[in-house]
Amino acid sequence: MQKKDLDRRPLVFITGSLPKVALRLLEPVANIRVHQQKQPITPTGLKRGIKGAEALICFLYDSIPGSILSSAPKLKIVANAAAGFNNIDTAAAQAAGVWVTNTPDVLTEATAELTLALLLGVARKIVPADRFLRQGKFRGWDFYLFLGNQLAGKTLGIVGMGRIGQAVAQRASAFGLKILYHNDLRLPAEREQELGASYTPFAKLLKQSDFISLHVPLTSKTRHMIAAPQLASMKPTAILINTSRGPVIDEKSLVEALKKGRIAGAGLDVYEQEPQIEKGLMSLENIILLPHIGSATVEARNGIAITAVQNVLAVLHGKQPPNPVIIPER
Ligand code: GLV
Repeated sequence: MQKKDLDRRPLVFITGSLPKVALRLLEPVANIRVHQQKQPITPTGLKRGIKGAEALICFLYDSIPGSILSSAPKLKIVANAAAGFNNIDTAAAQAAGVWVTNTPDVLTEATAELTLALLLGVARKIVPADRFLRQGKFRGWDFYLFLGNQLAGKTLGIVGMGRIGQAVAQRASAFGLKILYHNDLRLPAEREQELGASYTPFAKLLKQSDFISLHVPLTSKTRHMIAAPQLASMKPTAILINTSRGPVIDEKSLVEALKKGRIAGAGLDVYEQEPQIEKGLMSLENIILLPHIGSATVEARNGIAITAVQNVLAVLHGKQPPNPVIIPER
C-alpha cells in the first residue's frame, strides 16, 4: 500500500494490548495506535492518544468522561472491551453523535463459571483448606475438618437476571439449588420455567436465600444496593457473591456484617475502588477475594477483543455496530 493510502486510513486508538486474533481483523482497514504500557492510560495520555482517531477501544478501568470527546472531533465510536460500560459517559457520547458499544455474550459463560467457582469455594472453604495444608497443618483425615455447606437443597437468590444471571441459574440448577431471582423486568413465564427460577421481590429474596449472587449493571440505582439494612435482613448463614461491579456493595458495611457474623461469608471478584481493596476485607477468613477475573478465560478474552473490533469495523464502514448501548443523536 502506498504511503498516501496508508495516511488516508482511519486511526483507531487502543488503550492497551489486544490479542492478535482481533488486531488481525483491524490491520487491513485502519492505522492502529496502542497505549503500550502496563499501567492504565492517564487522562492526559488519553487526550493525546485519541487525537485524530475515528475509533477508541478501551477497557473497563478507563474512565471516558464527556470532556474527552472535544479532543477527538473525528471520533465515531467508543468500543468498550467489556460488558459493563459504567466507565463511559454515555449521555455525552450520545449527544456528541458518538457510538458506544460493549461486548456482551462472549463472556457470559466465563463469568457464570467463576460465580459458581466462588460460591463453591466459599461454601466448601476451599481457599482456607488449601492454605492450611500448605502450612503443614494436615495431620490426617478429621471428621470435623473444614465442615462447609452443601449447595444441594438450598436456595440461591440471583439479583439481576440478564444473560449472566440466567447462565448462573442454569448451572446452579445442576447443583440442586432452588432459584429465586429479582430483576427490573420479569422474564417470560416459559423462560422462568426453563430456568426453574421464581420471580421474587428484592426484600423477600434477601430474607429467603442461603446464597445471593449479584449480576446487575452499575447504575445510580444499583450503587450500594447491598448496604447495612440489606445485609441485616439476610440469613446469618448467608453467603454473598459479587462478580458484577464493586460499588453495588457498600464494602464497609460488608466488612462489619462479616466480622459480626451477620452473614457467613462472601466471594468477591470486584471492588468499590479497584484496584484498592477495603482494608477490613483483607483480614477476613470467611471470604474469597479475586482480582476481577470474571471474564479471564482465553475464550472470553479473545471473544471480547474480536467483538470490540467488529463494532469498530462496522462503524468505520458506515454501518450500525452490532452491540450499541446508545444510539447517537447526530
Ligand atoms: C467485566 O467485568 C466486564 O464487564 O466485561
